[in-house]
Amino acid sequence: MTEKDEQTDDNKNRRKFIVTSTIGASAACALFPFASGLPSVLDPVTKKSDGASTPWTKVTALASLPEDGTPTKFEVVLEKVKDAWTTYTNIPVGAVYLARSGDKVTAYNLKCPHLGCAIDYRSKSNDYFCPCHNSTFALDGSVTTENSPSPRGMDTMDTKIEDGSVWIRFQQFRPNIAEKIPLS
Ligand code: FES
Repeated sequence: MTEKDEQTDDNKNRRKFIVTSTIGASAACALFPFASGLPSVLDPVTKKSDGASTPWTKVTALASLPEDGTPTKFEVVLEKVKDAWTTYTNIPVGAVYLARSGDKVTAYNLKCPHLGCAIDYRSKSNDYFCPCHNSTFALDGSVTTENSPSPRGMDTMDTKIEDGSVWIRFQQFRPNIAEKIPLS
């Protein structure tokens, strides 16, 4: 092989390497955004949370709740909500019924586990009722009708009493399935 032939082969190999590298880099660039976005694509459908990462929110004074367990409705307002760029303050995120038994408080999400309508507390029958498809719930949140449209009882969340105030970890849950799975 002459020196000229060797140079031609070298040039061919160099061109082949550049083309291969460019295709590889382009493929990686095309795939990377999808890969980096994958968790947010899957979230919150596959995400399960035990609530430990959910911040506590103060709702009301314990003394303001009836001691006989009658539920009282409260709007839940988060003091701070952060996204990647901005911090928002005093954001309403939902509503709960708080029911007190001594020094223990149970929080029930106002959203119906069927399709998310607002559940009413009926003082006459002392139970809960969702007017959208007539699901009824006992005071402890359990389903009370045999063929209830709601596949599970009312959703509860963590509560604690601190310095005379009721705090909750407010969460929403996946609708219309029997299992109670948090959305965040
Ligand atoms: S949304 Fe409550 S029963 Fe359907």
